[in-house]
Amino acid sequence: MTRDVSVVILAAGLGTRMRSGLAKVLHQAGGACLLEHVIEAAKEIAEPERIVAVVGHQAERVKAEVEGLGTRFEVQTEQKGTGHALRVCAGQPGVKSGRLVVLYGDCPLLSRATLRRLLAEHEAGGRAATVITTVLPDATGYGRIVLDEAGQVAAIVEQKAATAEQKEIREINSGIYCFEAELLWPYLEKVEPNPASGEYYLTDVVELMRAAGHATVPLVVEDANEILGINTRVELAEADRIFRQKKVRELMLGGVTIQRPETVTVDVGVEVGQDTVIGPMAQLLGKTKVGRECAVGASAILENAVLEDGAKVHAFSSVQDSRLGAAAEVGPYGRLRMGAVVEDGAMVGNFVELKKTRLGQGSKAMHLAYLGDATIGQKVNIGAGTITCNYDGRKKNPTQIGDGAFVGSNSTLVAPVEVGAGSYVAAASIVTKPVPKDALAVGRAHQINKEGWAKRRREEKAE
Ligand code: UD1
Ligand code: CA
Repeated sequence: MTRDVSVVILAAGLGTRMRSGLAKVLHQAGGACLLEHVIEAAKEIAEPERIVAVVGHQAERVKAEVEGLGTRFEVQTEQKGTGHALRVCAGQPGVKSGRLVVLYGDCPLLSRATLRRLLAEHEAGGRAATVITTVLPDATGYGRIVLDEAGQVAAIVEQKAATAEQKEIREINSGIYCFEAELLWPYLEKVEPNPASGEYYLTDVVELMRAAGHATVPLVVEDANEILGINTRVELAEADRIFRQKKVRELMLGGVTIQRPETVTVDVGVEVGQDTVIGPMAQLLGKTKVGRECAVGASAILENAVLEDGAKVHAFSSVQDSRLGAAAEVGPYGRLRMGAVVEDGAMVGNFVELKKTRLGQGSKAMHLAYLGDATIGQKVNIGAGTITCNYDGRKKNPTQIGDGAFVGSNSTLVAPVEVGAGSYVAAASIVTKPVPKDALAVGRAHQINKEGWAKRRREEKAE
């Protein structure tokens, strides 16, 4: 990390064109809100306590969302332009000297590599400021970069103020700069409100510094996507697509097989080990961590899931805040939620739901079961249709099933209840009392056969 760098992230704007009740920078792309992406990138070049996010619109909500990232905040109560937004940070410790980098909260695709390059070129060039620019086929709406004969920035002219000739310029201002902080602050003080809009334009500082002999030099980036500013939900979707595409590409280059990668959704924070195979339409979200040689079937959804090596989540399963041990399996159509754990080699089959339940090593629950608030030992067999009645209308009650127990199909285990190790529960039993170790529990009506009954009935009808 370069020493003596601070970052200000402008994120106070309304984002009117999102047409949303939610502040623009809180909208999500690639599995995180826009501002979080920018803060994470900023951390690449500055310590969190030297990063200041300028918030305004829904300031409290925005702060609450990204507080955990360790940055500072400044509130701009009235949005009076980009120059004003930076000015409100003047009193912050840490921004007064060294290099000051300005980023936008709605510009989430800027790469860490480009940020490092911005600092490197700025320092090597020994100038007052460096501004990131790019060349667009259509520059409408952006501030245009007016260069002098020496290739330095003479001015940044906003669309509304541009002459016909300046509108032809296709090199645009990204709004991302690196300043010599000690030079910036006095000149920023001198910026006057724009006569047309009444806003203080940060771009005006470039001309003021230049008049005093302090140069600003452009750094042209090739990939215009990097400085894509999100204004509408159409651009939001585009940013999301770019994040996802980049993420699956990284995973594939790292040794993960992804079938139909264009259909797969992976959040930026997800980790996947080598030789894992991910099927079409799968979603890997949040802080999901998948080991090596795992399988994630078509349309499976993993959210904050942990899969140890060789675990398999088959098609159409949902694993939320839950964990699969080595070579454990779930699905197709399985559901794990709220801290469920399927230990090494255990199997959960189709239409089985586990909530806050631990299924021990090598145990099986293969068909149509609900297991809630249960602790199940090793090598247990849970028959088809088994239900833990964990809720009594007021609170949730636990079920304990010991090692090697065999729970017959369609059993109803009324919690709190304990099924001892090595015991059998006969199919269709309603278990309300503890089952001792190695016992057989039969909790159902005895079967009676009425000989010839059906035949007699048919004959009666025929008469
Ligand atoms: C700005 C630049 C323009 C550049 C463009 C790139 C100026 C005057 N213009 O224009 O040259 O081409 O970005 O996208 O700087 N913000 C605040 N407080 C404010 C105003 C804005 O925090 O009072 C924040 C916004 O939340 C946003 C960013 O600053 O993140 C940019 O503001 P915006 O109004 O979108 O600037 P543009 O008109 O797009
Ligand atoms: Ca903008």
